[in-house]
Amino acid sequence: MELLDKIIHPPAGASADWTIPQRFEAYGEAEHRIWVTLYDRQARILPGRACDAFLHGLDALDLHGAGIPDFHRLNERLSALTGWRIVAVPGLVPDAIFFDHLAHRRFPAANFIRRADQLDYLQEPDVFHDVFGHVPLLTDPVFADYMQAYGEGGIRALGLGRLHNLARLYWYTVEFGLLQTSAGLRIYGAGIVSSRTESIFALESSSPHRIGCDLERVMRTPYRIDDFQQVYFVIPSLQGLLDLTIKTDFGPIYARLAEAPDIAIAAVAPNDKVLSRGTQAYARGLVDQ
Ligand code: PHE
Ligand code: FE
Repeated sequence: MELLDKIIHPPAGASADWTIPQRFEAYGEAEHRIWVTLYDRQARILPGRACDAFLHGLDALDLHGAGIPDFHRLNERLSALTGWRIVAVPGLVPDAIFFDHLAHRRFPAANFIRRADQLDYLQEPDVFHDVFGHVPLLTDPVFADYMQAYGEGGIRALGLGRLHNLARLYWYTVEFGLLQTSAGLRIYGAGIVSSRTESIFALESSSPHRIGCDLERVMRTPYRIDDFQQVYFVIPSLQGLLDLTIKTDFGPIYARLAEAPDIAIAAVAPNDKVLSRGTQAYARGLVDQ
């Protein structure tokens, strides 16, 4: 019962939808400096690596290095562009709450920032991952619609008991997606663009597989939360991703997935459109990158 209470009820001080005040005025100088350090590192490596929509969004939001952004000011710009808003939350929120926010064009962002000794890696998303990583693409009208549709789809998947499958689609698109462009592969996933090491690894390492994105294939593939991905899925365009996901009724896919086995994380399946077949040397501990 106590466990159930913790799952259902928001922490003290949070609203029923788990939102809290950002408390912008409470950030200290050292916390703003961590944002600036992280921002500067990414700003240096992302041109030519992140997709144009992300880089444009970064400019449009004026997230430039002044420190942790004030959500009120950010929301003025963001909502004028696509109707999305950021809401502050203490950290990860329950699935149903998360999807309800997305379905209403609200993106829940943690209000805390990582410590100075966690610049390269932390397991729980902080304000840098959530805002720098996710919010620029929410200025793109197509991606903005995808995220809302995903929220609606999440509520449905939860009801059908297939959330573990749909969560993989989020992971391999929103968090770790790559995009094919005429200039070459580009990053659009928030988990990649907010990480210096993975921004380089995802595009340049010969270790991971890079495979054309197929809905059913992705939803059968587990993922790792503790290290670089072993496989990245590549979409042809953001519009292509939106069209495919909103036009496809996932009901029959979920029914098939209930019978289909998972695909091992480092496997290449017979019907895969392989863009580059990885050596998996990093995952096997043989090389540093
Ligand atoms: N079309 C999906 C369904 O029928 C919903 C969805 C949309 C899922 C966009 C993910 C992304 O459930
Ligand atoms: Fe994220």
